[in-house]
Amino acid sequence: MRALILAAGLLVACGGAMAQQGVQEKLKAIQSDPVALRAAVDAGKKVTFFCANCHGEDGISKLPEVPNLAGQNPAYLLEQIRKFGSGERKDPFMQGLIKVLKDDERLQAASYYASMPVPPSRADAALVSKGKELFGKLCVRCHGEQGRGNETIARLAGQKQPYLQTTITRYRDKTGVRNNQLMAIATAGLKNEEIVAISNYLTQLP
Ligand code: HEC
Ligand code: HEC
Repeated sequence: MRALILAAGLLVACGGAMAQQGVQEKLKAIQSDPVALRAAVDAGKKVTFFCANCHGEDGISKLPEVPNLAGQNPAYLLEQIRKFGSGERKDPFMQGLIKVLKDDERLQAASYYASMPVPPSRADAALVSKGKELFGKLCVRCHGEQGRGNETIARLAGQKQPYLQTTITRYRDKTGVRNNQLMAIATAGLKNEEIVAISNYLTQLP
């Protein structure tokens, strides 16, 4: 009986992983088909009607602790949505909300936000060069010269400074809110004031 329950659990887990792979494959197909992409972006604007309360109508958040979604890589967005759904990433509100979205709606939301431009934000100019130096030493090999990331690595350029600061600190302190081995290692040696400098540098990047 115990073996059976275990086997059933495994099947469900594998099913989940396969379903996610399917969604990412579907996203890739949509991204390379301009007509399908247009349709997904249009549908995404409607699907994200409620998300706009926090993330802003165009994916530019007006709340310091809420991330911009505009300009973010759609595959990264989709993966974060999956993580909220599975509980690997913790946020009381996002975890509940995201369960309501069907796969197609997740695709559409990610496509919509990714299609929107993200303007740079103002930063403390005195901290920018220190932040740039640290970013170049510790972060650039994954996040890229311009901080724009890729399918698996977040775009950081133009992100909200307070959100960046909180998030980097969470990875460093291994609070369990954001779980990622690569980020835990990359941030392990950072002092608080260095995190402030890096996040000021990143928020003003175009
Ligand atoms: C009540 C406010 C609120 C609403 C409404 C909301 N979100 Fe969020 N969202 C947040 C907060 C806060 C975070 C950051 C959580 C954290 O600190 O890690 C977040 C994070 C995210 C992220 C991760 C972004 C990143 O850079 O890693 C995605 C993707 C996301 N939300 C999508 C959505 C979608 C899609 C909707 C609508 C279905 C939505 N959110 C509605 C507050 C909200
Ligand atoms: C070895 C590769 C690697 C290095 C080096 C790295 N990162 Fe990351 N970073 C990632 C990955 C992968 C993710 C996505 C993790 C996840 O899903 O939570 C990420 C996510 C992030 C996020 C979350 C963005 C969001 O929208 O929520 C921030 C902020 C961040 N990194 C900042 C940094 C900073 C600052 C440094 C340098 C001190 C750095 N990273 C170095 C791979 C890396």
